[in-house]
Amino acid sequence: MTDTHEGESLAIGIDIGGTGIKGALVDLRTGGLAGDRTKLSTPKGGEPEGIADTVVELLEKIGGDPSLPLGVCFPAAVVGGRTMSAANVSKKWIGFEAEKFFEDRLGRGIHFVNDADAAGVAEANFGAAKDVPGLVIMTTLGTGIGTALIHDGVLIPNAELGHLEIDGVDYETKASFAAKERGDLSWTRWASRLQKYYSRLEALLYPELFVVGGGVSKHYQEFLPKLELRAKIVPAALRNNAGILGAAALAASPKYMPSLQQV
Ligand code: BGC
Repeated sequence: MTDTHEGESLAIGIDIGGTGIKGALVDLRTGGLAGDRTKLSTPKGGEPEGIADTVVELLEKIGGDPSLPLGVCFPAAVVGGRTMSAANVSKKWIGFEAEKFFEDRLGRGIHFVNDADAAGVAEANFGAAKDVPGLVIMTTLGTGIGTALIHDGVLIPNAELGHLEIDGVDYETKASFAAKERGDLSWTRWASRLQKYYSRLEALLYPELFVVGGGVSKHYQEFLPKLELRAKIVPAALRNNAGILGAAALAASPKYMPSLQQV
């Protein structure tokens, strides 16, 4: 855990994914990147040692003062610093004391959080979900499908709704961006899967807004207009940097994510 860094305007965010690990220095006054984004490939197998080595290398490339708050987000449910699941990384992460493991390897405190939750926090503070009342569902379409629930600006952590079972299968295996690539699906065919997925989320949770992130969100015009939903659905304003920004913000100050008690 990091100490709180109230008043800090610079922080570092690292977003670990099933395919790539990216990070940057973030300016929290603007909610933008304060330096170039650096990206390295996730080592094959996604094992703890290999991922930690890559994070160390990435942090050296990013640079910055070692006293800056550092947020790291990861593609698994995270409870008390432990990774509880592992869909697109090694099964060794299940029940693993990941936060402490990274802190030991990096020699500094970190804030450790689920990747979709980090993206949701960033969109709620600086992006498409800012000041939106009611329920917002952040979804990230990448190697898997990440989801974050934000109600009146408050995060309900670790929603793992990418794994909703539809047609008898874990639906991230059908509707993630990786599934589109694997199956060489046209935008239209992929959009029909997304229609099924978002309709099911809508039937279960009645959100006001869906925010769609992940690298593919820059091509939102190819697929979002094909979807028919009650709720509004918009691309992430922070695109694929949302995870980096959210992890950095959470490391800098808890003010970026009010808790239920403060409501
Ligand atoms: C994981 C989630 C993660 C999402 C996006 C899913 O497979 O279970 O924890 O948020 O992928 O990376």
